[in-house]
Amino acid sequence: MKKTAATMLDAAATAMALAAHTAKKLHRRGQKLVSEIRYDVEAFRQRDPAAQSNAEIVLLYSGLHARTAHRLSHALYRRGHTLSARAVSQGAKALTGIEIHPGATIGRGLVIDHGSGVVIGETAEIGDNVTLYQGVTLGGTGKDEGKRHPTLGNGVLVGAGAKVLGPLTIGDNAKIAAGAVVLDDIPADSTAVGIPARVVRVAGQRVANDLDQIHIPDPVAEELDAIRSSIAALEARMDAEQDEK
Ligand SMILES: CC(C)(COP(=O)(O)OP(=O)(O)OC[C@H]1O[C@@H](n2cnc3c(N)ncnc32)[C@H](O)[C@@H]1OP(=O)(O)O)[C@@H](O)C(=O)NCCC(=O)NCCS
Repeated sequence: MKKTAATMLDAAATAMALAAHTAKKLHRRGQKLVSEIRYDVEAFRQRDPAAQSNAEIVLLYSGLHARTAHRLSHALYRRGHTLSARAVSQGAKALTGIEIHPGATIGRGLVIDHGSGVVIGETAEIGDNVTLYQGVTLGGTGKDEGKRHPTLGNGVLVGAGAKVLGPLTIGDNAKIAAGAVVLDDIPADSTAVGIPARVVRVAGQRVANDLDQIHIPDPVAEELDAIRSSIAALEARMDAEQDEK
């Protein structure tokens, strides 16, 4: 009888210890989540001059809502609950117009400004303090398997409507201009524009890759000149040989 009571007491103590441990863990996770969301809100305050208050951002900014939903979908995805993860991300897409695949890895302080039409693929990786505008795609080319989507460093800015395609890398603090289509790696601290995107600034300095539109090289004329020179050389040799005879 005594032994049974002792066993029951032991079991109750173990259950209480477990409950306390779980409560502590949940509390810690809750605190971490709140501090991460606070950091995101502050990022909107710093990078969106139109933001008037924290309440406005928390209640009305679809970029923040999509990112917050992604925290849940990503946690489900990592635990193997892929269907419910997708359900959360599709729900968020219906509400915000922003589609973030649950598999995407995202750092702190992501600002998705305006938001509509943003698509972030499954194997995309986004560093800290990145800014994306409406219509940005971080997608695949359809040619790759496994890692198919871009990796963005810290502090990267991707302008409205830009498409960044394939498992390429955008270096820290690079800027991708609105409307660009990026198909290759872009170095850190640079600005890339156009289709396909080319680097036009590195660390604020202009990159000398502009083609001189007036003095364009003519490959046909260059080839003709080379042939003329060869013929002249041959003729000179023949003349010299004839003189010797
Ligand atoms: C690219 C950008 C980030 C500016 O970066 P930056 O390093 O300050 O570059 P600059 O403004 O000095 O421009 C560099 C060159 O790229 C050109 N350029 C800038 N933006 C461009 C664009 N979207 N498409 C094509 N060329 C562009 C500039 O005319 C300049 O050309 P130049 O070398 O002949 O002088 C900015 O122009 C941009 O596109 N921001 C996106 C903002 C956005 O999407 N806003 C939406 C709000 S709703």
